[in-house]
Amino acid sequence: MQRRFRTRVWIAGAALLLTACGANAGGGAAGDDSGGRSGDAPLGKVGVILPETASSARWEGFDKPMLEEALRAEGFDPDVQNAQGDVQKFTTLADGMIAQNVKVLIISSINSEVGGAVAAKAKAAGIPTIDYDRLNLGGSSEYYVSFDNVRVGELQGEGLVDALEDQDGAEIIEIEGAPTDHNATLFHEGQRNVLQPRYDSGEFELVRSQPIEQWNNQEGGRIFEQILTSNGGEVDGVVAANDGLASAVITVLKKYGLNGSVPVTGQDATAEGLRAILRGDQYMTVFKPIKEEAEATAKLAAALAKGDTAAAGEIASDVSEDPQGEREVASVLLEPYLITKDEVKRVVDEGYVSADEICPQDLADVCADLGIR
Ligand code: GAL
Repeated sequence: MQRRFRTRVWIAGAALLLTACGANAGGGAAGDDSGGRSGDAPLGKVGVILPETASSARWEGFDKPMLEEALRAEGFDPDVQNAQGDVQKFTTLADGMIAQNVKVLIISSINSEVGGAVAAKAKAAGIPTIDYDRLNLGGSSEYYVSFDNVRVGELQGEGLVDALEDQDGAEIIEIEGAPTDHNATLFHEGQRNVLQPRYDSGEFELVRSQPIEQWNNQEGGRIFEQILTSNGGEVDGVVAANDGLASAVITVLKKYGLNGSVPVTGQDATAEGLRAILRGDQYMTVFKPIKEEAEATAKLAAALAKGDTAAAGEIASDVSEDPQGEREVASVLLEPYLITKDEVKRVVDEGYVSADEICPQDLADVCADLGIR
């Protein structure tokens, strides 16, 4: 369970403080040990390992470039890698970064076991670690930067309720994220905060709730089709935990002529998800301004690289529970936003996707009507 304490004023204040420090450090702070290269990377190397690419376009499309930019702005020389869903590769990448003695190791883990093992190795080497986006249960990272993931799930539940209005007895299929990803557990917790009362009252009927290993989109589509056919081809609404799974679900719905009449949820505000929303095949996505996540992570890493634990504590002022490790983790939990057709423009205006990416010829009129250009 993520407890959500908001102390935004501290984050802003600390960010201001660190930015100033960062600016000073840019002048080649005295005694910096960035291998003698004064000025260009005063804080030295920082390692980042992202989990995979198959689960979501976010990791290579948003997280990698935004983390590189934010970390450079803080004075680091960033090395951002992706483990491609392979736990052995995740470990090998981490071993290499630890051997290079990176100042901070930032990890978004495939599962808590490999993430926890990597964090323990880094700790033994005196390297602080930050759990990025995904908390490693039973892990040892002292900091976690993510979004309020229970809120993400609540927005998905609220979106589905909006879409179904008062369709009594609506049959729902839930296609959930990886059981090895604690975020998926939190998304589901948030969804059920909204949907469980409706299951209990009979307003909605749960056909099946199915986690999908590694968020594998193709597997998600295959399993969704199995559930749909085993339910006599009947479904009124689908909870898809992210846009990748939503896309796979929509492909199946198209096969049965159900796309557009069966609302599907999503997450990550990817170009593919936003196009599906503009076409009416997907009802909503959740926009998580990853630039904010990257910048908070970079500022936190800078504080840790300087040994400024006071500043780190002011940035990571929220708290997350780790039920497996029976501990509380200092966190940054950022706000997510519901995006339905009318709000797609916001994601373009904030620079995450371009109008060209989400307004192909067949959507030109829809985009014009929504003011997307
Ligand atoms: C989650 C992440 C989501 C979702 C998923 C698939 O951990 O928070 O944004 O996309 O992974 O990558």
